[in-house]
Amino acid sequence: MCATIIPEKHMHYPVLLNEIISIISPQYGGTFIDCTFGQGGYSSKILEFSNTKIIALDRDKDTLKQSLDLKRNYENRFIYKNLKFSQLANLKLKNENIKAVIFDLGYSYTQIKDKKKGLSFDSKGELNMKMGLNEFSASDVINKLDEKKLEKIFKFFGEERESKKIASTIVKERKSKIINTENLVKIIESTKKIKSYKTHSATKVFQALRIFVNKEISELIYGLANATKVLKKDGTIVVVSFHSIEDKIVKYFFRSLSEAKSVSRYMPKNSPKKNLLNVLVKKPILPSHKEIKENPPSRSAKLRYAIKKQDVYEFETDILDKFKYLIDIENYSKKL
Ligand SMILES: C[S@@+](CC[C@H](N)C(=O)[O-])C[C@H]1O[C@@H](n2cnc3c(N)ncnc32)[C@H](O)[C@@H]1O
Repeated sequence: MCATIIPEKHMHYPVLLNEIISIISPQYGGTFIDCTFGQGGYSSKILEFSNTKIIALDRDKDTLKQSLDLKRNYENRFIYKNLKFSQLANLKLKNENIKAVIFDLGYSYTQIKDKKKGLSFDSKGELNMKMGLNEFSASDVINKLDEKKLEKIFKFFGEERESKKIASTIVKERKSKIINTENLVKIIESTKKIKSYKTHSATKVFQALRIFVNKEISELIYGLANATKVLKKDGTIVVVSFHSIEDKIVKYFFRSLSEAKSVSRYMPKNSPKKNLLNVLVKKPILPSHKEIKENPPSRSAKLRYAIKKQDVYEFETDILDKFKYLIDIENYSKKL
């Protein structure tokens, strides 16, 4: 979440960059997939090492401009696609020697500052929250979905304790007007009884809406599964996450494919799933005090990584069963 720029200095600050570089070792060359190109912080650093190649993806077409600078400097070593990372396997990468696939989840400082995207509470006008390649907006969700569904979205995607009251007030208010960003912030502020001194009252509902509008749960699950497919033996998946739902999914995915004891009741005994990944560090890697001081939004970042141990393309995972309760909520969008 919003952890790529030092806000006051408007300087680009890719989160946990040194840690990522030491994990993926670009000094030995190879092809790397940057699934969340953003302002190109990770891609630029990796391209500084000769014999590296980057395939960069981003769902936000506004990142194209930044990609053109890298294309000019590294014409033959840099490819950019305006694509969601859940589609990674469509790139026909089966025969590429992919050394690492990197995810830096959430949104960038540039995106949150872009008022048209409506990701922050001080945005004006129609609710949006689309990061790119979306099917519906936050305005559709708030103004069309029924009360119970709104409550579940706020509760499970935002961990908002007052989700029931907020959903009920939204449904009452929208009888007389189309709810926009300012209206939504006011509704949340006036409905919530539990105040936090650390975060804005609307933080959790805004997080929930962003996750729902951008289908971030299935994006992450399919992104991780496809990253594991396209990697070669000894390749690494690196994920930087910013909230507990993301970290829970990443942790489960890695654990389910790394532990000798299968966590899936559906898994055949001879499946290549067991021990497909090696998780060397069980606890997440966190930014140093220095990084947090220089770039405060990095404080919620958690880095996990895993190394692929076998050269298999197809494998089985029970991750969709495990997080079915979240996917079911994401599927409320079919009613829009
Ligand atoms: C935190 S920023 C990445 C910053 C980047 N590491 C850098 O150094 O500039 C996250 C980026 O991921 C993109 N993104 C989020 N979800 C995505 C998805 N499912 N597929 C592709 N890109 C995605 C966002 O549009 C945003 O540009």
